[in-house]
Amino acid sequence: MIALVTGASSGIGRDIARSLAKHGINVIITARRRDRLIELKNELMNEYGVKVMCIAADLSKEAHAFKLYDAVKKYNIDILINNAGFGVFGKFAETDLERELQMLDVNVKAFHILFKLFLRDFKKRGCGYILNTASIAGFMPGPYFSSYYASKAYIVRMTQAVAEELRKERSGVNISMLCPGPVATEFSETARVKFRSKPSNSEKLAEHAVREMFAGKLFITDSWLTSSLRVLAKIFPDCFAAAMAGCFQSKRERF
Ligand SMILES: NC(=O)c1ccc[n+]([C@@H]2O[C@H](COP(=O)([O-])OP(=O)(O)OC[C@H]3O[C@@H](n4cnc5c(N)ncnc54)[C@H](OP(=O)(O)O)[C@@H]3O)[C@@H](O)[C@H]2O)c1
Repeated sequence: MIALVTGASSGIGRDIARSLAKHGINVIITARRRDRLIELKNELMNEYGVKVMCIAADLSKEAHAFKLYDAVKKYNIDILINNAGFGVFGKFAETDLERELQMLDVNVKAFHILFKLFLRDFKKRGCGYILNTASIAGFMPGPYFSSYYASKAYIVRMTQAVAEELRKERSGVNISMLCPGPVATEFSETARVKFRSKPSNSEKLAEHAVREMFAGKLFITDSWLTSSLRVLAKIFPDCFAAAMAGCFQSKRERF
């Protein structure tokens, strides 16, 4: 089997690539930081004896997402880990527009392009796994992190809708979404905000995500607390969920 992992230069993507390699799966790893990818490539080849290919790509550029797909399609990818993403923290009127647009290009546009192109290939073959990294943020409005939460809601709704299409077709293609709460990665540094609660361990989360993906689970999360938040977000009106999330986010400190 061979997997493509986006956002593999750090955090959740890097740990998912490690977990896949541990299962004997060859991986193509991509992100912007080539040096990090090469470091990971050497680690995975030495530790697990799998084949690893690095492709440096900036997914905030639409052309790079298409080029990435063109470069890997000949390998008949079996697993897509659609994971690259980042957040922009702050009041919506005050956050940097350019950075937010870049975030939407990565979290929404590149996610969408890769999801569609690989899904088409997988459907033709009647098999394959897609794991989209969303977030618990995708289930509620998120004051002070508004466009990040909204970008993750896009991933949640797309994954749920496409999963239903596949279910109706009795497709052999499996899709899952990873929806954790805070995880200890470079995410908070990039978003320039500190976590208030103790973040989950990225390695454990990645192991769990890979197991659940192979088990065909649609919704994958990191803890019972995060699962409960999702249930609460369904029960309570959106204005209540927005007030709760706003209260949580407004107390976070900036870097
Ligand atoms: N950590 C959390 O608390 C948390 C919680 C829920 C969901 N998530 C989601 O998990 C995913 C992974 O984030 P993480 O927590 O592992 O954070 P991270 O350590 O900062 O990793 C983010 C990854 O995305 C890549 N990336 C960012 N911008 C990119 C671009 N323009 N082009 C290509 N790759 C890009 C980064 O690589 P380069 O910088 O090398 O390009 C890096 O490999 C994200 O989608 C995030 O929204 C995170």
